[in-house]
Order: sequence, then C-alpha cells, then structure tokens
Amino acid sequence: MTDFTATKARFHLPEGVIYLDGNSLGPLPLAAVGRARRVIEDEWGEMLIRAWNQAGWMDQPRRVGDRIAPLIGAAPGTVMMGDTLSVKMYQALASALEMRPGRKIVLSDSGNFPTDLYMAAGLLRSLGQGHRLKVADPEDVGAAIDEDVAALMLTQVDYRTGRIHDMAQLTATAHAAGALAIWDLAHSAGALPVQLAACGADFAAGCTYKYLNGGPGAPAFIYVRPDHVEMARPALSGWMGHEAPFAFDLDYRPSPGIERMRVGTPPVVQMSILEAALDIWVGIDMAALRARSIDLTELFIREVERQCPDLRLASPRDPALRGSQVSFRFEHGYAAMQALIARGVIGDFRAPDTMRFGFAPLYIDEADVLAAVGILAAILRERAFDAPEFRKREAVT
Ligand SMILES: Cc1ncc(COP(=O)(O)O)c(C=O)c1O
Repeated sequence: MTDFTATKARFHLPEGVIYLDGNSLGPLPLAAVGRARRVIEDEWGEMLIRAWNQAGWMDQPRRVGDRIAPLIGAAPGTVMMGDTLSVKMYQALASALEMRPGRKIVLSDSGNFPTDLYMAAGLLRSLGQGHRLKVADPEDVGAAIDEDVAALMLTQVDYRTGRIHDMAQLTATAHAAGALAIWDLAHSAGALPVQLAACGADFAAGCTYKYLNGGPGAPAFIYVRPDHVEMARPALSGWMGHEAPFAFDLDYRPSPGIERMRVGTPPVVQMSILEAALDIWVGIDMAALRARSIDLTELFIREVERQCPDLRLASPRDPALRGSQVSFRFEHGYAAMQALIARGVIGDFRAPDTMRFGFAPLYIDEADVLAAVGILAAILRERAFDAPEFRKREAVT
C-alpha cells in the first residue's frame, strides 16, 4: 500500500504554507538539494568534461525517460527527455505531419494550452504547404475528426478546469479516420494513471516541473509509439539525435529509436534534480494515487460549496471526468487568490475569473484541504479581497 504520509515527508514544504499549486510548479524534494550539490561539486567540479562518460551524463535523457515511462503507460525505450514541452510538441507535430503527406488539417480544441496552438501555427507557417490549424470546442472535437485531419493534437487534462479528454476513444476515432493522435500530458503525468501504449497514442509530450516535481525549468519528455519511431523524421535534427554525434558527419542521419528526438546538449543539473524527484515515485501505486486525488478534490468541492456560496464550480462535478485540480469561478478571483496567498494558501489564477487549486496526493492531505477551505471562507466573509494591495496584477498569475 502506498504510504502518503511517507511521501509528504520527502518534500520541503515551507512552514505555514498549504501548497495547492503543484499543478504549476511542484515543491522541492528534500533529496534534490544533495543531488544537485553532488552533480555540481563532484561531477562538474571534479570530473569536468569526463563526467559525460564517467557520471553517465550522455545517457541521462534516456535513463530518465525510462523512469517516466511507467508513470504514463509507456514501454522502456519509448520516452526521451529534453528541451521544453512547447519544443517537444513542435517536434511531435512536425514528425506526425510528415507521416501523413497529403492531409492538411491539424485539429485541436479551445481547451488546449495556448502554447500548443502557437507552436502549431508557427510550424504550419514555416512548412508553407497549406496546412491549417482547426480549433474546435472541446466537446465537439471528436465529431470534427475527418479524413482531412493529419493530426489530432490535444491536451488530455484541461489546464483551466481539469476536464479530462477520453484518450482511448479520441485516439481510436483519429485512427479510424486515418489521422495520428498527439497528446499533451502536462496536467496528466503524475496526476493520474495514463495508458499511452494501451490507448495506441502516436505521440505524447509532457513537462516535469508540475506533478513530477523536477523544479523550475525541468526538461520535458516526448513519447513516440515504438512502431512509428523509425518513420518519425525529426524536424529539429540536432546533433545529439544523430546516429553518431561524435562522428561529426556533415550529413544528418537520425539515430535509430527514440534517441532521434534528442536535439542538443541536455540540462544535466536540472535533470539530476528530476532524477532525485523521481525516486519518490518508486513503488507508488497509480491507482491508489488516483483514489486519493479523487478523495481530496471531492472533499475540497464539498467544503467550498458549503462554506463559500459565492464561488461557482468550473471543473467537472463527476470525478471520473476531472484531473487532480479543481477550479472555481469568482468575479473577484484574482484579488481573492492574492489574499489567500497572503494567508499561506497558495493556488493560482487563470483569466478571466478562475481560481485554480491543485491537489497532489504525494504531499497534500485532508487536513490541508480543510484548513485551506477555512481560510478561503474567512477571506470571503471578511471581503479581504477588497484591499487594494490584492488588486495589483503581477506578471505571473
Ligand atoms: C498543457 C500545457 N502545455 C504546454 C505548457 C508549456 O510548457 P513549457 O513552458 O514547458 O514549454 C504548459 C505550461 O504550463 C501546459 O500547461
């Protein structure tokens, strides 16, 4: 049985803070500090360039990918680390489009995180082949899949509401129409069980600074279905994805397998922190994690609706359709969130009026949920959000 009291003890959680924003940036794993120090002092400091071989830096992107694979239902050797999620989505889409020549539509939805749409638009523009990005409403996206679609590109868990798309069904619908399915797992990896292989997903990518706790700037991962990988031509054909990077050939030849999705020099220090963070996931039963996540979000919704009648639930009420976050709408949402943060309950805000709360089962428990709602209710009762200092917009909300 997974012991969530033990996992909570493995994080640095600042005194007086209830952290409900692990869906944006996970907290610091205690072991990350020593690990970063070792990489900096012992590996970089002492081994210098020799560390690429002696400390395993060169293999690190694949080694770490293999540790993420079981969390997303992927086989070893199908997940590669590096770059940012925006870049990995670009790579996935570029390869997918080359696998469907003749088809000109990339289908996404309005619940997608904007960077995915921006990256797609930029790629389509520079391809200059007449591709078009079509954006449907999330509930209509399945019906919009037709034989013009080259790639369906969706974020599985909506970043604002937590609404979950049915990956198995939408992937099957895409395949029936001859399209490929690309999934953004930013709010899925470490939040709920994901079954990439079982769903037949063609490509996926995700970040590691949210539920996986790899820290700010932690590298992204990309998954390519193993029976596609030899056909997936890398658009970002950097030297680290070359078949023989140190042959320094003038011509690019993609490496066999998932290595081809590497681009350039990996962020070694940052990825070492992620490795320490992933140690916490060893032995975690994803079904138990999901059950606990549902218990926590159900408790939060019940208590907010009981104690804060001015807030309106923006997330699906059915827990089976909801990720590990809960959003409420409130006209003074921004100021109320600032007031909440000032009293030690950290969530975040998404325009125009959504207060967003993440419940990462590794370190959030029932007592945190109850205390957070109590503080929120007091803020609303006292109209603490009316104070002018809570109305000033910061750059990051
Ligand atoms: C769903 C989703 N996709 C993409 C991104 C952007 O990722 P990155 O900044 O790592 O490129 C985010 C960031 O929060 C996200 O939530």
